[in-house]
Amino acid sequence: MDFAAEMSRHAARVEAGIERLLPSGETRPARLHAAMRYAMQAGGKRLRPVLVLAAAELFPSAAEERADPLAAAVAIECLHTYSLIHDDLPCMDNDDLRRGRPTAHRAFDEATALLAGDALLTHAFALLATGYAAQPALSQALVAVLADAAGSRRLIGGQMEDLLAEKKTDATREELEFIHLNKTAAMIEAALVLGAHCGDATKHEIDLLTQAGRNLGLAFQITDDVLDATADSATLGKTAGKDAKAGKTTFVRLHGLEDSRRLAIEHTDAAIADLRKLPGEAPFLVALAENMGRRSK
Ligand code: IPE
Ligand code: IPE
Ligand code: MG
Ligand code: MG
Ligand code: MG
Repeated sequence: MDFAAEMSRHAARVEAGIERLLPSGETRPARLHAAMRYAMQAGGKRLRPVLVLAAAELFPSAAEERADPLAAAVAIECLHTYSLIHDDLPCMDNDDLRRGRPTAHRAFDEATALLAGDALLTHAFALLATGYAAQPALSQALVAVLADAAGSRRLIGGQMEDLLAEKKTDATREELEFIHLNKTAAMIEAALVLGAHCGDATKHEIDLLTQAGRNLGLAFQITDDVLDATADSATLGKTAGKDAKAGKTTFVRLHGLEDSRRLAIEHTDAAIADLRKLPGEAPFLVALAENMGRRSK
């Protein structure tokens, strides 16, 4: 398996899907649609949509009933991008840089950024409803998975506790784990599960992917915290050193750099152990997990 070639193949499908499945930048009101496209097309690692496509390929179903996972892949990237636009707003993390460019509220204005986020969130569910209209049971399952991961108990709940824990001097490791599991791991789990639903995965295989996604997600956010403390803004494409300034409850703050790095490796290894139990031992997903563990941005 040529990891770089497979990664480019998936990423190219995602970029083409984004171009095709988002309203054009000229759609009225043009300022809103331009802001949605600005945030979506600024690059980004495309981890979640690539996980959707790669997970779906593990479970090829009979050709006539195979569901194209591309709409689900674009849907999760819309949802993720909305969460970044809102995460960067002055009332949240107050960031000026995202994906190597000014944040949406800097490039446009706060109200436009807020509305572009709202619209991307809504568009994600529209894609799941219309993209799978011919398979209503599948459509319903995809909506349920994404709504759960993005909802008040998970992504939004994690974001809420992340803000509540700011400047808190007595935040516990349990609170930190809640924040990471929900603000980040939920969507990474959901990406794998959305892909699996587009194929013909069994309940056991979906459980394995959920567990792998949880560990991959924890490793991913621990690494995000480590990079915030150690990398530079030019490499990251977002402002480095912000967590310490904002008094965020991060892995680096509670566990220190060395233990954080060790924990990220442990969670990556745990994810890989579960991925290897999947059909064909999931070589691309295993390589992607290893790659994410070593990432520099
Ligand atoms: C950033 O996610 C927010 C976190 C959950 C850490 P990514 O690091 O996947 O951001 P992009 O999509 O590559 O910009
Ligand atoms: C954000 O975590 C996670 C979500 C957007 C849900 P961070 O606040 O650490 O993400 P970055 O570092 O700004 O990308
Ligand atoms: Mg944040
Ligand atoms: Mg942030
Ligand atoms: Mg961060």
